[in-house]
Amino acid sequence: METQNSSRFFIAVAVITVCSIMFYMYFEPSLNWLNYPAVPKPNVCGNICSNALKRPNQIQIVNNNNCMVTQKETASSQGVDLDTILLIWTWPFGQQFDLGLCSSMYDIHGCHLTDDRSQFNRAHGILIHHGDINGDLSNMPKLPRPPFQKWVWMNMESPSNSGQRSNLNNLFNLTATYRQDSDIMVPYGRISVESGGKKHDEIPHKNKLVCWIVSNWNSFHERSKYYAELTEHISIETYGHHFNRRISDQHYSDVVSSCKFYLSFENSIHKDYITEKLYNPLSLGTVPVVLGPPRKNYEEFIPGSAFIHVHDFTSPKELAEHLKLLDQNDDLYRQYFTWREHLVANEFCFGLEHACRACDHIRRNKNYRVVNDLNSWYWG
Ligand SMILES: *[C@@H]1O[C@H](CO)[C@@H](O)[C@H](O)[C@H]1NC(C)=O
Repeated sequence: METQNSSRFFIAVAVITVCSIMFYMYFEPSLNWLNYPAVPKPNVCGNICSNALKRPNQIQIVNNNNCMVTQKETASSQGVDLDTILLIWTWPFGQQFDLGLCSSMYDIHGCHLTDDRSQFNRAHGILIHHGDINGDLSNMPKLPRPPFQKWVWMNMESPSNSGQRSNLNNLFNLTATYRQDSDIMVPYGRISVESGGKKHDEIPHKNKLVCWIVSNWNSFHERSKYYAELTEHISIETYGHHFNRRISDQHYSDVVSSCKFYLSFENSIHKDYITEKLYNPLSLGTVPVVLGPPRKNYEEFIPGSAFIHVHDFTSPKELAEHLKLLDQNDDLYRQYFTWREHLVANEFCFGLEHACRACDHIRRNKNYRVVNDLNSWYWG
């Protein structure tokens, strides 16, 4: 009897496992959720981000026409005793970046970033990237932590896109995500007053009306349904893996800037989850048509006149008619660019910005804090 029950149990488990695997293979054929979104993100400060990527034995001096950056960090890094030390526990998604750029990029001083684990006992903060934590937490720091040390939970994926771990409660002291209610908020981009930075050029030459690049296709995504209906009323230039029309990083900017409109459709809909799908077209001189959280939420990040929201229209058909109208009326179309007279769009630097801002936060806030219920806060 015993054995019969337990063998039934094992058969059930096996069936469920196989089904789950099939489910994932079907819906996520590219296993995209394992990787940081593959869509390239070149733009104004994207150049800096790629320059900031670490090359061995070389101090990067980042200085290009778009964003003036001067290197002066190395000297201050020597006085580590006065500095706040932030240890990057694992490179987020394996992407290394230059550790000496907090002062030049973010005007954050007195921070010493390191990836040297032997500094664990001295580090004021430990930056831990959610996507790199093993399911059983086996690669988390194990030593007893010094009383002053704060662990920072970093995650830029939406709850739908990040695997929940059951035992993350009462482990971290700070959160660093795109969410506004994080201790350290790092949005995917920022609109800021131009300060000696890039001056926007004329609206780039356009030879396409509506474009969309999608790599992570899932027919259950809200965006897929919207696209299916929209494409019946207006022609859409589609690119990416799903459409068998991949584009290279270099090609990306040319394509996006040559479109009058770009479908900035998020793959999952969550408050504040507004990604590079919005900031790339904004900085490349293309009007984003957004699908994501409500318009009000977008307007907390960017000017309301800079984008079109699918909810501004009662149906995809009505949106298509509006886009066609704008295509015929250049004065109306140009109104979507007025924000560029005094503002610029910049993208964030994945990892680097989190590290610098987390370090700065720890430097300024000495208070005790514990993130008690990370699971229900993030996935709840
Ligand atoms: C950080 O969180 C841990 C885990 O709950 C806690 O034991 C520790 O006292 C906290 N440290 C600080 C500096 O807030």
